[in-house]
Amino acid sequence: MRNRIIRKLAEKNTVITPDALEYLSDVDHPDCPESILERLEKDEDLPFPVCKDTISCFLNEMIEPSELEKPEERDPPERLDKIPENKIDILKDVSGESTCTGKVEEFQKYFSDRYERLKAIVEKRRDGKKSRPISRISNRPGNATIIAMIRDLYTTSSGNKMLTLEDPTGEMRGFISADSDAFEKDLLEDEVILAKGEVWENNGDFEETFAIEEIKRPGIPKMNDHSRPDFSGKIAFLGDIHVGSDTFLEDEWSDFRSWINSDEGAAEYIEYLVVPGDLIDGIGIFPDQEKELNIIDVNEQYRRLAQMFKQLPEDITIITIPGNHDIVRNTEPQPCLPEDIQELFPPNVLFFSNPALLEIEGLKILAYHGSSINDLSDMLPQVTSERPVTAMKEMMKRRHLVPVYGKKTSIAPEEKDYMVIDEVPDIFVTGHIHRTEVEDHHGIVMINSSTWQAQTEYQKMRDIKPDPGKVTILEPNTNKVSIRDFS
Ligand SMILES: [Fe+2]
Repeated sequence: MRNRIIRKLAEKNTVITPDALEYLSDVDHPDCPESILERLEKDEDLPFPVCKDTISCFLNEMIEPSELEKPEERDPPERLDKIPENKIDILKDVSGESTCTGKVEEFQKYFSDRYERLKAIVEKRRDGKKSRPISRISNRPGNATIIAMIRDLYTTSSGNKMLTLEDPTGEMRGFISADSDAFEKDLLEDEVILAKGEVWENNGDFEETFAIEEIKRPGIPKMNDHSRPDFSGKIAFLGDIHVGSDTFLEDEWSDFRSWINSDEGAAEYIEYLVVPGDLIDGIGIFPDQEKELNIIDVNEQYRRLAQMFKQLPEDITIITIPGNHDIVRNTEPQPCLPEDIQELFPPNVLFFSNPALLEIEGLKILAYHGSSINDLSDMLPQVTSERPVTAMKEMMKRRHLVPVYGKKTSIAPEEKDYMVIDEVPDIFVTGHIHRTEVEDHHGIVMINSSTWQAQTEYQKMRDIKPDPGKVTILEPNTNKVSIRDFS
């Protein structure tokens, strides 16, 4: 069975993770594995790689819930005991809170929660209170304001845009003329927008349509008087360590370790180290990855990282989230690393989910690995992978970390949408792109952190040029940023 599944997925240019394969072989059901093979065959948009959660979702679609074993109840992570008292508040973290089993109704609930959360943000804008439900404006020609999610959109042969707008009360066809100011907005599916316009009546030849004249997004308030927390130390950001990769930069890491243990420059003032994912290189993440690894066991990779962290000053609190190379599920939000992995690390290393919103000594930090940066650079001309902050600004505009559902970044339909940016952070940090960039955007310090992995064969083939070996250091009470280069 294993070989048939591996072959089938290879035909579809993807792979299955070892834990997914094991999970599948443990399923005791008469229709398995035939039904799974059939499901994989039909799916034109399989993720890469196919992980345990994907298989679990497929099984739930096909098999009655009562036929499957109930998922094991998990105790809340013990790491909470390690958090320095009164210093870190966890504002958002999915670890131990995941409810997703992949049923169709969960997707409906998920989208409804996404809409309500984004509506609550956009409603606070001027004109927000004037909005009406779609059911109240249909069959009433005239001016109107609505807050709706864009279900689909396309550009017509004459250059105008047609949309399907929906809210919990109904749906309506939308139209944006190529001459309208609203046309310039680079709209994406699944966005929640406030739209002002005119309802055109159904006249027999022409379906009822909402002609949009103005669009407002959730956006972020301009924070010119951004308050400075009372935070005397510094925070360092580094990411995508990729321990286990044969291009992991040992010498550069060793220079960083010597520096951070010294009293040179900012080193002695660093109180926190933030690592936004891809702590290890993992295994089975892309085809033939094992040829590019010098540690081929994920547990060994984490063990090695734990040793590396033990050599850093123990009074620095190290904050980590997982990325797409780490051992947890690949769908977002990703829970923190499992307890048996956490136990390998010293007590100053803390583990949170991807994404996570934390308040550290009054400073709100939103940490997200950043997989959706690639999706946004495929969809929006102003976003490039070389400049990840361009994507981070688009996320902030839409107040969502993965604005479009169903692209390369897969989302688990949790009861609440953890990817909505409900609260505007002071610091927004991502990784994934292996480049260093910092920008102040309306008072938010946006940081894409560097990597400790030199260019891989895989990246060479795709002409991806990393910018490794750099540490971004922030002094929160002045927002001064410096970058220390160990490359
Ligand atoms: Fe990475």
